[in-house]
Amino acid sequence: MASKRVPTSPYPDQKPGTSGLRKKVPVFRQPHYVQNFVQAIIDCIPDRKGATLVIGGDGRFFNEQVVQIALKIAAANGFGRVLVGQNGLLSTPAASCVIRKHGAVGGIVLSASHNPGGPEGDFGIKFNGSNGGPAPESVTEAIFARTKAIGDYRISDAPDLDLGRIGTSEIDGMTVEVIDPVADYAELMRTLFDFEALSKMFASGFRMRFDALSAVTGPYAKAILEGALGAAPGTVVNGEPKPDFGGHHPDPNPVHAHELFELMHGPDAPDFGAASDGDGDRNMIVAPGLFVTPSDSLAILAAHAHRAPGYAAGLAGVARSMPTSRAVDRVAAALKIEAFETPTGWKFFGNLLDAGRITLCGEESAGTGSNHVREKDGLWAVLLWLNILAATGKPAQELVRAHWAEFGRDYYTRHDYEEIDSGAANRLMDGLRAKIGSLPGTRIGGLTVKAADDFRYVDLVDGSVTEAQGVRVTFAEDARIVYRLSGTGTAGATLRVYIERYEAAPDRLELPVADVLGPVVAVARELADIEAITGRAEPSVVT
Ligand code: G6P
Ligand code: ZN
Repeated sequence: MASKRVPTSPYPDQKPGTSGLRKKVPVFRQPHYVQNFVQAIIDCIPDRKGATLVIGGDGRFFNEQVVQIALKIAAANGFGRVLVGQNGLLSTPAASCVIRKHGAVGGIVLSASHNPGGPEGDFGIKFNGSNGGPAPESVTEAIFARTKAIGDYRISDAPDLDLGRIGTSEIDGMTVEVIDPVADYAELMRTLFDFEALSKMFASGFRMRFDALSAVTGPYAKAILEGALGAAPGTVVNGEPKPDFGGHHPDPNPVHAHELFELMHGPDAPDFGAASDGDGDRNMIVAPGLFVTPSDSLAILAAHAHRAPGYAAGLAGVARSMPTSRAVDRVAAALKIEAFETPTGWKFFGNLLDAGRITLCGEESAGTGSNHVREKDGLWAVLLWLNILAATGKPAQELVRAHWAEFGRDYYTRHDYEEIDSGAANRLMDGLRAKIGSLPGTRIGGLTVKAADDFRYVDLVDGSVTEAQGVRVTFAEDARIVYRLSGTGTAGATLRVYIERYEAAPDRLELPVADVLGPVVAVARELADIEAITGRAEPSVVT
């Protein structure tokens, strides 16, 4: 077999977003589209000669074809070894774990996360660096620049590799190891959590449901929860990864994981409910009768993490993305550790984790993680919750209530206006930015604006500056509204409005969320003139 150079012309639209290049499958199926992007990534890995690369994805439609293409391009570009998950599968956190453990220069991870899959669904390609984390903006910018200048790519003409069989083979002198996608990850989890205590808890009748939403975490959850920890068979539902996620929208929130949500709010609720997304990095936690917001989950995990062996020494610090509620800040203050506020996107946690400034971090978008890998990690969050439940002996719902009683409660909701016109979305954000200076001190809908700004982040490790990350407005009544445009959509623009209000009085901890936040929601609509500018009277999704 030999490798060849194939002439190609650039596509203008291969700009990576919040989390890699994400487009509809038909876009990726255009001639040379995948090849161009993979070659552009590889051109931005200077030390590739003889190096190790990791390849894998969430198993969605088109996953396997792209794995085969990436393998052949890697072989033609001089890599020494590729580690690829069996059947082309690797959850995002497992890919991060494998990159770190095997000293790879990076990984090509195929996923459109929680977006629907299938021939008309979404697909994505992202690059993670040698620390196992999403490439920083400087690298994604370089990749984008390369895609605009590309004139040819190099590819081996070897036949497709059998990805079903674990073992070692070769393409044009490059070693290919097809690995068990679960093994390294499961071993890492064993070092962090008290598997013995968890096994005892399950043996004594603790019941849970884990809904894998027919996405990649099924095999991981089955191997760890049902296999290693002895949870009852059937604990993991929708556990077979499917190319179209069995028609599921693999986003673990009360809307898309409604079966789990309903079970947990019904008479047969088990002790604990959890779900994960398409590529396994997000999580949803539901206690019996009580949905735990991702922001609250992060705060509760931060308060109790020391109960798990991997975090027994305490936390160096914590971080949250800017639109995530301020609940974790209150825990950090009590623990007397640093709390950081970063822009949306997991990559912004990377430097803080690498520098040892934080141990735990999380986002309102259902991502929670720690320094064990450089991605958010759905199953890890579930195991940390379980470890805390085992260590405290408290039911999950009691743990949440005790947390509110101690720290107060940050009522929280997010309103998404999906697929709105991009021009209108930009006009709305520009309008808000223009108002920022005049807002402080104004009274609107019964609330008084305390401060308003457009979030700007200075990375304290490398000094890089990221501008215009969302408009935030805080109120004297301890409420906050944040507006930003999504960076992960594949059609039009999505406006996200994040609304929260803090309550600490003991008789105000269990009010209906809509009652507490209603007035703030009304102010959010008025302040940004949402209906007039977007033509939408109501958001498309409320979580
Ligand atoms: C991906 C990233 C997350 C980020 C989320 C935001 O899932 O991995 O770190 O929070 O996108 O998406 P958005 O659509 O709000 O830009
Ligand atoms: Zn994801």
